[in-house]
Amino acid sequence: MKNKIVLITGGTGGIGKQTALTLAKMGARIIITGRAKTSGDETVAEIKQASGNPNVDLLLGDLSAQAEIHSLANQFKIKNQRLDVLINNAGLASSKRELTADGIESNFAVNVIAPFLLTRLLMDSLKASPSARVINLMGGDVPAKLDMGNLQGQRSFDGLNSYSQSKLAMMLMTYEFARRVQGANVTVNVCYPGQASTNMTRSVTPEMFPRFMRFIFPLFKLMTRPDGGKSAEKASRSSVYLASSKDVEGLNGKYFDAKSKMVDFPAIVMDVTTRQKIWEVAEQVSRLS
Ligand SMILES: NC(=O)c1ccc[n+]([C@@H]2O[C@H](COP(=O)([O-])OP(=O)(O)OC[C@H]3O[C@@H](n4cnc5c(N)ncnc54)[C@H](OP(=O)(O)O)[C@@H]3O)[C@@H](O)[C@H]2O)c1
Repeated sequence: MKNKIVLITGGTGGIGKQTALTLAKMGARIIITGRAKTSGDETVAEIKQASGNPNVDLLLGDLSAQAEIHSLANQFKIKNQRLDVLINNAGLASSKRELTADGIESNFAVNVIAPFLLTRLLMDSLKASPSARVINLMGGDVPAKLDMGNLQGQRSFDGLNSYSQSKLAMMLMTYEFARRVQGANVTVNVCYPGQASTNMTRSVTPEMFPRFMRFIFPLFKLMTRPDGGKSAEKASRSSVYLASSKDVEGLNGKYFDAKSKMVDFPAIVMDVTTRQKIWEVAEQVSRLS
């Protein structure tokens, strides 16, 4: 990974931070994004120290706000001629239906629109790389269907379902992206990291589970108790594999599990009409159409 430029969203904690650390140890130039300067600077210092790699930087931006995504992309382009690896890692699992500054439901904004818009804005930088990779992170349970009439929980909302639906929408968007860049020097793939104890999982509340599943909450809490980043490191391996392995060079539009094994997409991802609709919604919501 020497001299490769890698941008990781949400690199200030959890899986993203572990991904950044491993790729820094491999010699890549790492740029992480986060929302808070103090914790971001601390993370950069920590990664530099632990990896012995001085080429680690921070870009600040809230990915729920489209103006800040534009600003992040611009800040990146000012300092970098190309982008070799983009890891759309940042994610949100909000238990409440909240609207962003752009009036978009927050899970949909951070999990679907942010990776879509950032990848689109950085496409020229990716195409300037001899061989670029985009990696998007999937959530746990993959729902069989996408509720197109309720993408932003406008009809009914429950936290876990909203998160899962947004991740499925992101998966469809990823596949469509891959199809559209086919033949260029850019690949777009998706991976499932596996479960890890991170801020995201530790902030899950019983109310996020459907009523009939709340009895498993104590077990979930036990599985996600703090472990000093151990499970997050394990969960970062699929992202690291897709970012660095020669085995996946040129592979485009594929889905990898937590063991970095290529697996089939859920059937709905192959549905051209649904994919096309998600693409149109993403373009419209991010004001690119
Ligand atoms: N943990 C799991 O068990 C698990 C399982 C399946 C999938 N995943 C997926 O893996 C990815 C990483 O999750 P994680 O568990 O490592 O989460 P995490 O510990 O909560 O870290 C999330 C990162 O995203 C950033 N972030 C969150 N909202 C943001 C926003 N609005 N704007 C900018 N940055 C934002 C955070 O940065 P700040 O410092 O600014 O807060 C943080 O660096 C997510 O896509 C998640 O859906 C996780």
